Amino acid sequence: MKILVTGGIGYIGSHTVVELMNLGHIPIIIDNLVNSDIEVLDRIEKITGKRPIFEKVEMCNFDEMHRLFEKYPDIDAVIHFAALLLVEESVEEPLIYYYNNLTSTINLLQCMAEFNINKIVFSSSCTVYGEPDNLPVDEFAPIKPAMSPYGNTKKICEDILTDTVKATDIRCIMLRYFNPIGAHETALIGEFQDGPPHHLIPYITETAFGKREKLRIFGNDYNTPDGTCLRDYIHVVDIAIAHIAAIERMMKNTDKNIEVFNLGTGIGYSVLDMVNAFETATGIKINYEIVPRRAGDVEAVYADTHRANTELNWKAERTLEEMMRSAWKWEKALAGEK
Ligand code: UD1
Repeated sequence: MKILVTGGIGYIGSHTVVELMNLGHIPIIIDNLVNSDIEVLDRIEKITGKRPIFEKVEMCNFDEMHRLFEKYPDIDAVIHFAALLLVEESVEEPLIYYYNNLTSTINLLQCMAEFNINKIVFSSSCTVYGEPDNLPVDEFAPIKPAMSPYGNTKKICEDILTDTVKATDIRCIMLRYFNPIGAHETALIGEFQDGPPHHLIPYITETAFGKREKLRIFGNDYNTPDGTCLRDYIHVVDIAIAHIAAIERMMKNTDKNIEVFNLGTGIGYSVLDMVNAFETATGIKINYEIVPRRAGDVEAVYADTHRANTELNWKAERTLEEMMRSAWKWEKALAGEK
């Protein structure tokens, strides 16, 4: 299959491209290179032995998108990763976030409708559940007001897709990711960092590496077993594989117009659990301190994965230890140490 992968050289996108290529599919990557590195193409080539097709496209420019679809009219399906995704930045620059994440999605859907390309897998996030009323959280849980413009763009894109599916032949699977971590086993691709990290795991690995003196743990007075927040951390390669399952499902089930699946392991680990898991996996002690809560953090969120396991026929398989080992290998690779 020929699969258009928007944001295909980003963190989750690049891992998905590798899995697609390993199965013999042909990804066509588009990216505007704003938050990504073109060198990832070389790295994908090293892993798979083939260079993926790449087009530098600004998705917010309708004409550029239209030209892309003219060039590749025989695309079988689309996986839409491309988005700005930094929570704090989105609070400071809401208009940039709304403009970028919504315009790109609208342009994509307009082109898909015009060129009769009718299958799309959308990258959504557990952020749409906010602080859930019940745990584990399933796909029918109410959508809560977003805690940030970034989170709101995910919610609005879900609405745009839902309405578009009703009005056109386009079908959609929305995948709500919990907390993707880790990197490819080769340590050739992972989450590239430009400046300070934005998530827990790179803070842990940078502390282990000696780039930072200590990890700051945001609050230990939550209503959880050890007082730190609970999250559902999932290996990025498991997330990548779920996209292939989603595409295959859309190819087979032509009666389903829109579906939503949680992508998690179903287990809630605390921040301290993650520190311990890293220490056990690597033998390196993490220096940490407890600091006040971070604004906007939810106390606990982890997935009910029943639907994904049964309907999508997909299950997260990689262990917490594998997540930690791969994250550590990636940190060392980033520093040029093998
Ligand atoms: C974040 C985003 C969320 C997004 C998700 C995946 C926020 C508020 N939420 O989720 O919208 O969908 O990433 O991209 O940014 N922690 C520390 N010390 C640190 C860093 C993190 O204690 O230095 C804790 C946090 O308080 C949290 C947990 O680690 O309890 C995970 O944090 P993080 O990796 O930033 O992800 P989320 O906040 O869950």
